Amino acid sequence: MPGQLPEGEPVPVDGALPPSVRAAVGERGFGVYVHVPFCASRCGYCDFNTYTATELGGGASREEYADTVLAELKLAATVLGERPPRLVDTVFVGGGTPTLLEVDDLARILAGIADTWGLAPDVEITTEANPESVDPHYLRRLRKAGYNRLSLGMQSTAPAVLEILDRRHTAGRATAAAAEARDAGFDHVNLDLIYGSPGETAEDFAASLAAVIASGADHVSAYALIVEEGTRLASRMRRGELPFPDDDVAADRYLAAEAMLGAAGFDWYEVSNWARSPAARCRHNLLYWTGGDWWGLGPGAHSHVGGVRWWNVKHPTEYAKRLLAGESPAYAREVLSVADRHLEDVMLRVRLVQGLPLAVLDDAGRSGAARALAGGLLRRDAYMDGCAVLTLRGRLLADAVVRDLVP
Ligand SMILES: C[S@@+](CC[C@H](N)C(=O)[O-])C[C@H]1O[C@@H](n2cnc3c(N)ncnc32)[C@H](O)[C@@H]1O
Ligand code: SF4
Repeated sequence: MPGQLPEGEPVPVDGALPPSVRAAVGERGFGVYVHVPFCASRCGYCDFNTYTATELGGGASREEYADTVLAELKLAATVLGERPPRLVDTVFVGGGTPTLLEVDDLARILAGIADTWGLAPDVEITTEANPESVDPHYLRRLRKAGYNRLSLGMQSTAPAVLEILDRRHTAGRATAAAAEARDAGFDHVNLDLIYGSPGETAEDFAASLAAVIASGADHVSAYALIVEEGTRLASRMRRGELPFPDDDVAADRYLAAEAMLGAAGFDWYEVSNWARSPAARCRHNLLYWTGGDWWGLGPGAHSHVGGVRWWNVKHPTEYAKRLLAGESPAYAREVLSVADRHLEDVMLRVRLVQGLPLAVLDDAGRSGAARALAGGLLRRDAYMDGCAVLTLRGRLLADAVVRDLVP
């Protein structure tokens, strides 16, 4: 069972936003996130809001799910008003395992978003997928329904690592699915890697990177394994059955990723993300990282519109129950203060390749930036041009740089 939601201020039963908010919607892009809370089985390291079939009672089944999401979309249209905030720039369906839904359900959800707000001509439409949950036929139908970007959870090519992570796919399946997605006509394909897992060797990770590079994917996300409280993996580590991750190993793996991906023509554009070209960058995630607006549909989904953030009730049954009663599924919200927005802006934007203008920092933050520069964590050329941009060493220590910039 995933962890608890944060507390916040209550949301009106009809989900209405404070009046000041609507005027500011869409200034920096408008996206839609759809959470699909189903998985065939739970991976031992994962604490995302997802459930297996046996965990869910009536009202929240996979078969009913698309209609429940469409009911929230209807409510969203009322909350944001008759006039759409602007055409939708990005749609991202994440999970859980979205591809456990029938293609027709994913198609209906997308058509509902298009009918409600309209899609921008160059809209990016991503769905996450588990490698074993798709085949060429499924992918062709998904592409035909309008999805143009696929993000596959590959994690590793080492069989022993896949087993420790409880993944259901075999070593070659993720890259095969990436090739099938290309054949089906997807414009962009991402592969997710996790590094620093127990038992993973430097050679294992190099082999995973080589497989990604050869696969035809044009985007890679590589994250160090996070040991989440309350997961099966955390218990196994606490009992001493598996070693905890080692920071020095994680740093070595990151350097290996940069070296191999860089040599193969992938450039970093966010600390944990590399793309073959600027057009292959994930525009939905960039919208999150640059203060855009998005509506998050689904249980536990977070939204951010015009400086207000809210999050839905977490359990799919409670989520469906509220919508069936004609009520907002929002659990709580917070109106971000100027200080909150500044902290978030610095935290997210300094991780991007274009960095952060020094002018947005206060005096203490500018002193911190000078310290980070002296420590070799910021690029001197960019600093001279008035921008805080991480060096490779700075990317390894990005959290420390943020503490310098927002003391
Ligand atoms: C939550 S999953 C959803 C997509 C899909 N179900 C999958 O597993 O591929 C999205 C990505 O989050 C990453 N992730 C989840 N839990 C993580 C953890 N504890 N540490 C590092 N990465 C994690 C994995 O790389 C995964 O591909
Ligand atoms: S398949 Fe993805 S979402 Fe599901 S449990 Fe595994 S990592 Fe989490």
